[in-house]
Amino acid sequence: MRLVKLFGGAVLAVILTSAIVFAHGGATGIVKKRMDAMEAIGGNMKLAGQMLRGQKPYDAAALRQAAETIAENAGEKLTRLFPEGSLMPPTEARPEIWQDWDKFAGFSNDMKAAASELAIKAGEGAEKGAVAAAFSKLAQTCKACHEAFRIEK
Ligand code: HEC
Repeated sequence: MRLVKLFGGAVLAVILTSAIVFAHGGATGIVKKRMDAMEAIGGNMKLAGQMLRGQKPYDAAALRQAAETIAENAGEKLTRLFPEGSLMPPTEARPEIWQDWDKFAGFSNDMKAAASELAIKAGEGAEKGAVAAAFSKLAQTCKACHEAFRIEK
């Protein structure tokens, strides 16, 4: 009995793990492309945040690089990954994107501008407070767009 229980638990763990992998791994085509772009943006934001919080050594060149990568993935490059009506599962995109396209595109441009600003601040060796302020401004653009256009999980 006990063995069966143990075995059952292990199987359940495997099923749960693969369900989590599937949630993102199941994405294909354009949805996968934009999830990958967002993951890259998210990874670079995480790195920048860790440096500013002292969880990683502060490295102005690396922070500038992270911000530049975000800027490169933003603006029109990001909005092109949202062709009209592309709501295939497991997307978290909201249909409102295409009802209010200008607002959506505006957020993507705001992200690009804020990321470029952060790259400049870090690159010119600005003091940490100024770099942190530029980082917060960038984080605000993520939040604004997610609140309006991404389904909360
Ligand atoms: C222009 C709007 C917009 C901006 C700006 C934006 N996002 Fe997103 N983000 C989205 C949408 C929409 C999705 C859901 C995409 C989907 O599931 O198809 C998403 C999804 C994500 C995901 C989940 C990706 C996945 O694998 O499911 C992460 C992580 C993420 N965004 C991080 C960020 C970060 C960090 C920023 C700011 C630096 C940011 N986003 C800025 C619209 C935006």
